[in-house]
Amino acid sequence: MGDGKSFYITTPIYYPSDNLHIGHAYTTVAADCIARYKRMQGYDVFFLTGSDEHGQKIERTARDKGMEPKAYVDRIVDGFKVLWDTLLISHNDFIRTTEERHEKAVQTIFQKVYEKGDIYKAKYEGWYCTPCEAFWTERQLVDGKCPDCDRPVELTQEESYFFAMSKYAERLLKHIEENPDFIQPESRRNEMINFIKSGLEDLCVSRTTFEWGIPIPFAPGHVIYVWFDALVNYLTAVGYPDDQEKFGKYWPADVHLVGKDIVRFHTVIWPTILMAADLPLPKQVFGHGWLMLEGGKMSKSKGNVVDPLILVEKYGVDSIRYYLLKELNYGMDGYYSEEMLIARINSDLANDLGNLVSRTIGMIERYCQGVIPVPGPQEGLDQELVDTAAAVYGEVGRQLDRLDFSSALGAVWRLISRANKYIDESAPWLLARDEAKRERLNTVLYNLAEVIRITGIMLAPFMPTLPGRINRQIPVFDDPEQLRWGEAGKWGLLVSGRKVAKGESLFPRIDLKTLEKDDKETSAEPIAAEPGPEVNDLQEFITIDEFARVHLRVAEVIGAEKMKKADKLLVLKVRLGEEERTIVAGIAQHYTPEELVGKKIVVVANMKPTKLRGVESQGMLLAASNEEGLAILTLDRDLPSGCKIK
Ligand code: MSP
Repeated sequence: MGDGKSFYITTPIYYPSDNLHIGHAYTTVAADCIARYKRMQGYDVFFLTGSDEHGQKIERTARDKGMEPKAYVDRIVDGFKVLWDTLLISHNDFIRTTEERHEKAVQTIFQKVYEKGDIYKAKYEGWYCTPCEAFWTERQLVDGKCPDCDRPVELTQEESYFFAMSKYAERLLKHIEENPDFIQPESRRNEMINFIKSGLEDLCVSRTTFEWGIPIPFAPGHVIYVWFDALVNYLTAVGYPDDQEKFGKYWPADVHLVGKDIVRFHTVIWPTILMAADLPLPKQVFGHGWLMLEGGKMSKSKGNVVDPLILVEKYGVDSIRYYLLKELNYGMDGYYSEEMLIARINSDLANDLGNLVSRTIGMIERYCQGVIPVPGPQEGLDQELVDTAAAVYGEVGRQLDRLDFSSALGAVWRLISRANKYIDESAPWLLARDEAKRERLNTVLYNLAEVIRITGIMLAPFMPTLPGRINRQIPVFDDPEQLRWGEAGKWGLLVSGRKVAKGESLFPRIDLKTLEKDDKETSAEPIAAEPGPEVNDLQEFITIDEFARVHLRVAEVIGAEKMKKADKLLVLKVRLGEEERTIVAGIAQHYTPEELVGKKIVVVANMKPTKLRGVESQGMLLAASNEEGLAILTLDRDLPSGCKIK
């Protein structure tokens, strides 16, 4: 494990053009989870976030509001800091690109690359997308618009400085090929390889048409391109160029965590700048998916942003962090809806985890005078629980190491479910009736408390207030602020003899119906109901919350073909609102590809992606079948794809 070794992780620095939304919060919460995990492993972690304050977009936004850019960003950046405090983000530094230390670092790198001959002056004509702060050539535009965001671009003509990026294309490709972890996940790596192979052009790295940027020291009137400026933040914060000791300790960064939209900037522009400056490249750039709303991307201009501050106030910080980290499958997009959030709180947190803790405490109170008992010998059933805990511990570590938060949580929940089942199987209430079974009862209750200890440690990076809240009711930790990761991998560290004290439920259930009613009456307070029944006595039925966990959506089939060498499988391309997905379905013996194209079908949109014969299936279609045949579900009347089914 860490043993004091350094670990440097960064988030992107956010544009302070407006307040941040729940999508931005995802990146930062994810990075925070890793930072906390690594600290628990004993690493000397440096976790950086910040704000990207220069550029034409910020300048325009500020001026439109009748403000000076600096005064405008100061106010917004204060809001970022409040948000990160509220979400319990444990960053070690917050960098602002308007700080003096940063201006110095950017100018130093710029000068160095210039002196090397990799920055040169030339006439520039090209298309600029202000919202993306990106240059495009005529050839790269799509229907005359920005290929990234589909917004209008402006023709720009000026004498500019160029960075000789194309010169580094070969070296960059070689680096990517020789270092498979440099770009992750795999799909983004392939995208970038193709992008680089299609040819790199030199990059325009200066502007004269506005002033809100870092001046080029040797060229009055020119400011440095905002992405060149922004990327260097990762060096500034670890002491470049003056603090060589700090720089040597943390650089190169272990991981730059970024959204999929800015992978290109981090894996093409950034490494080539570093190559030109003779500095080592970061070890990894990880491009995560986006958190989407039903109607597509979250954006201020669409007026569909979700404010994380309001959500934290309503549902609590642990629940929001859990939801974000659970919702986005590895590298993929995820969907936000308040119903889904509530469904997850109720089923995963209140039912599964909350009930495990409250049932265990309740039984220790009832059967052991409220004292964590001394265990007797283990039996086969216990061993199964111990083995599950050990396997889950290994799995969670492996998944966190590859930044698969959702799978890591899935593994923890395997242990929680196993422990809930263990209660039913060992039936402590029956053991309690027979004095001869006292030792067995003690063992069972000790084991349950031990699972709570292990689970609490593994969940600490995801839900930072959870260990403390658990400990107030069942003191399974010596100090919930000083947890060590490795202690989750050892069974039996729990100290017997401590007293439990049942308190409020860890995660009160949210009553969706009452909440809807209250929302209409404009109250923002969540409705906390009593926790659900302790014993699962409704096995035949599912609740509306459980049903809401399945995202059924209308999808339009836009392409279909037979899977090679698999006579039962078809590979479908479907459209789900603005998104396109691939679905592999075992229906080739019932439908031809031609019959399917154009049909509106029903799919489970949040099915965990799975690979079938090497093709990733990103959803599941619904079909009825018996011995007579198979029929896929279609719509009785036409509705757009992406439509929700409930
Ligand atoms: N300023 C640049 C980054 C410079 S880093 C040297 C920038 N800023 S941003 O504010 O527009 O976006 C910051 C991050 O937020 C990006 O990684 C982006 O992918 C992420 N997200 C913005 N909306 C998001 C969602 N809806 N979902 C998940 N992440 C999202 O780009």
